[in-house]
Amino acid sequence: MTSKPDVQVLVGVVMGSSSDWEVMQHSVAVLREFDVAHEVRVVSAHRMPDEMFEYAANARARGLRAIVAGAGGAAHLPGMLAAKTIVPVFGVPVPSKYLRGEDSLMSIVQMPRGVPVACFAIGESGAANAALHAIATIATADPELAARLEGFRARQTEAARAMTLPGSALG
Ligand code: RP5
Repeated sequence: MTSKPDVQVLVGVVMGSSSDWEVMQHSVAVLREFDVAHEVRVVSAHRMPDEMFEYAANARARGLRAIVAGAGGAAHLPGMLAAKTIVPVFGVPVPSKYLRGEDSLMSIVQMPRGVPVACFAIGESGAANAALHAIATIATADPELAARLEGFRARQTEAARAMTLPGSALG
C-alpha cells in the first residue's frame, strides 16, 4: 500500500503482524497529515525472514529515508531491519497481551552497540512520535517540510495554552 502512485516513497511503515495495525495506524495518520509519501507493509521477522531481509537490503536503493517498524513481544523486527540497512529505523513497541508491551520496549531499546534503533514509547504515542521523528529527519534537508513541522508545533503550543484560558474547561 503506497499513499500515491509515481511518488518517491520516503518512509516505510512496517509491522510484524496485521494485529499491530491498531497501534501503527497512528504512524500512518501522522504521515498522511504531513503529506509524506509512505508505504505500509507487514514484514514479519520470524514468519517472513527472507522478505524482511530483502526489504531492508533494498530500502536505501529504493530511496527510503526512514523505516518506522512496529513489533510486539520479542520484537526483533526493528533490530533485524537495522542489521541490513543504514536507513534510520524508528522502533515502536507494540503492546503485548501478557507483558503489556514492556517486553517489546525492552527488546527494541536494548540494541547492542553498533547497530542503532531509535525506540519510542509503547503504543499509540510511540507510533505517532516515530512518524514525527521520521518527518523531522527528512525535514533537515527539506525546508518546506520543516516549515510544516514548525507550524504543527506552534499549533500544538497554542492548543496547550488554550487549555487554561478563560472560558476553557479549566479556565
Ligand atoms: C509480533 O508478534 C508482531 O509484531 C505482533 O505484535 C506479535 C503477535 O503477532 P500475531 O500473533 O498477532 O500475528 O511478531
